Amino acid sequence: MRRRSFLALAALLTLTGCEGVQGNAGTLAFTTPLHIPPVLDPVAGADGVKRFPLRLQEGRTELLPGKPAATWGINGGHLGPTLRAKRGDRVAMAVTNGLGEAGTLHWHGMRLPAAMDGGPHQMIRPGGTWNPEWTVDQPAASTWYHPHPHGQTARHVYRGLAGMFLVDDDTPVALPSEYGVDDIPLIVQDKKFTSTGQLDEDFGGTFGLLGDQILVNGTYGPFFRPTTSRVRLRVLNGSNAHVYTVGFADDREFHVVASDAGLLAKPVALKRFKISPGERAEVVVAFQPGEQVLLKSFNGDSDIESGDFDLVKFTAAATLRPSPELPSALAALAPLKQASRTRTFRLGGSNINGRNMDMTRIDEVVPAGAHEIWELDNVTYAHNFHIHEVAFRVLDVDGHQPPEHLRGPKDTVYVPGKTKVRLAVEFGHHTDPKTPYMYHCHILKHEDQGMMGQFVIVDPGTENGTPRTLSMPGHGH
Ligand code: C2O
Ligand code: CU
Ligand code: CU
Repeated sequence: MRRRSFLALAALLTLTGCEGVQGNAGTLAFTTPLHIPPVLDPVAGADGVKRFPLRLQEGRTELLPGKPAATWGINGGHLGPTLRAKRGDRVAMAVTNGLGEAGTLHWHGMRLPAAMDGGPHQMIRPGGTWNPEWTVDQPAASTWYHPHPHGQTARHVYRGLAGMFLVDDDTPVALPSEYGVDDIPLIVQDKKFTSTGQLDEDFGGTFGLLGDQILVNGTYGPFFRPTTSRVRLRVLNGSNAHVYTVGFADDREFHVVASDAGLLAKPVALKRFKISPGERAEVVVAFQPGEQVLLKSFNGDSDIESGDFDLVKFTAAATLRPSPELPSALAALAPLKQASRTRTFRLGGSNINGRNMDMTRIDEVVPAGAHEIWELDNVTYAHNFHIHEVAFRVLDVDGHQPPEHLRGPKDTVYVPGKTKVRLAVEFGHHTDPKTPYMYHCHILKHEDQGMMGQFVIVDPGTENGTPRTLSMPGHGH
């Protein structure tokens, strides 16, 4: 280990009191088929609007075989359906809260008006229905949705409120795209179970919950049977805190084709990649007929990526249908525009710039369509950073260009302890001086503790006149 990282690790261990967990490696039989969340077909009205009815509800689910547990889900007992829309679609959600407490549903990675975002200002009371509506206008990407009630997000997501939201566009790229066959969502979440198989909600410690078991798409010990020579995996880290270092047990090479907010310029060959909570990575991997191989998360170099975990066992069919060759180019990424200004965010233990989240305070006012540099200066242990509404590119990490697979469009980035990360952020055009978007650490305990700030997007030229306080701390639906 290099001296610098050794010192950093030693400092981290002192700071956090070492919360490393034992992984599940070698303990699973992989006898349960991987659950593929069903695609929810929208109800298309005469107006062409695609309507998605969604209900937050309680359920009982055998997360561990034979042990029904109290869970939460969307249109079911645990997790939610996969939503799918195409660039240009008008979508209308009807989110009904069937829970015994207020909640929200946030569209993580969607570019939309702030009032439709589903953050802490769009609370849905028990029994209430919230009807956000917007036009999908962004490149193809694997986005997702989850609750965002201030101070309660960790518990709501952990109980099972999460799902994928796939955006398609017209760009022709020959990637595996038959959902559930060669285009597979992998929602990776760590869990802790009590002896009766209930979800243990132990959010103590510096990072909150770090489980010793893994569910993928809610399945414990899952196997998947590839029937094609290549498979596209859309990996979502839907965990509260855990950072995974994902790769195959035999160290085979695969290609990363997309990051959070869309396709990379070209496929990037890798054997392992790191993914922090909220991030997505799409990879294409080749299989040989009849072979078996484990997808794993390898022990990493900080306390939120400790432990060796087995994720999914792939058991390829004896004959595989040939898949298209990987394209050599994927997307033409727009060159970065000149930034109009730089904003600095100091990431403390559970604050940003020394301040905790305040629902009535607007922290930043951004002109519509701005290109800015956001500099994240992490002065403590590991965090990550997510910005609502935007797409950004990672400019550098401690002055170095990020690895190639992190040079595509993103909305969430891992920020290791004592590290500076600079982002080139592109803001959208939906203005609303009174409804803020959020930026925050996506380690959900930190977010709940107030490691979150609010920004509004306003008409250029009105920044100085925009009030910095909100009189109404949100309103219920
Ligand atoms: Cu994944 Cu503010 O959210
Ligand atoms: Cu988000
Ligand atoms: Cu954090």
